[in-house]
Amino acid sequence: MGFYSEHLFPPLLDWATRPFYRDRQRLIARAHGRVLEIGAGSGANLPLYGPQATEVHALEPDPALMRRARGPARDGDAPHRFRLVRGDAQRLPYPDGHFDTVVACLVLCTIADADRAAREMRRVLADDGELLILEHVLAERPGAQRWQRRLNPLWHRLACGCQLTRATDTTLAEAGFDLTGVRRFRHRKVPGFIGDMLEGSATVRIP
Ligand SMILES: C[S@@+](CC[C@H](N)C(=O)[O-])C[C@H]1O[C@@H](n2cnc3c(N)ncnc32)[C@H](O)[C@@H]1O
Repeated sequence: MGFYSEHLFPPLLDWATRPFYRDRQRLIARAHGRVLEIGAGSGANLPLYGPQATEVHALEPDPALMRRARGPARDGDAPHRFRLVRGDAQRLPYPDGHFDTVVACLVLCTIADADRAAREMRRVLADDGELLILEHVLAERPGAQRWQRRLNPLWHRLACGCQLTRATDTTLAEAGFDLTGVRRFRHRKVPGFIGDMLEGSATVRIP
């Protein structure tokens, strides 16, 4: 791990994602039952889980971010609910149908193989469960897409693997999710190249 990713990126991440606070609040308020949050980072969402989230597994591969998540896990409401788990969303250490809610918040942009992570989220989610997502995605407008593709190589390095060009709606649909409850919108509080967002609740598509 380099100095940048270990010491500078974690506080930078907290600062850079502050404009999403209200979106996080709205999303996380819906989590219920046994919850898995993939790529929980420094734990920004942990204080937002309501009492209906009875057990929250916050999975994160990066040790520096995980260390930062200890504070929010300890200081939040009913801290016994939180389990910080070192792990990879591409190989989830859980049995099929184990969770009532899976949360993917600003993370499918960063996971190396997002298709695989989406299939894993589908696998561990109960058939009547909910996938809650908040993700920045590839824009639909060709001009905006061109900018995202130009900026992506630099952004990818600065933001520790984050990609501006992920078509996350396609990824989730191909993994078996129904996105009827997910809306696409442009976030006005962040720069345009990360302003195209998906937010909402996806369910399992039963064939
Ligand atoms: C932009 S940060 C977002 C963190 C957090 N979800 C939030 O909302 O603040 C992206 C996160 O994805 C995590 N990540 C990257 N690869 C991953 C993987 N294979 N499995 C799980 N998480 C991963 C990173 O370590 C980082 O915590």
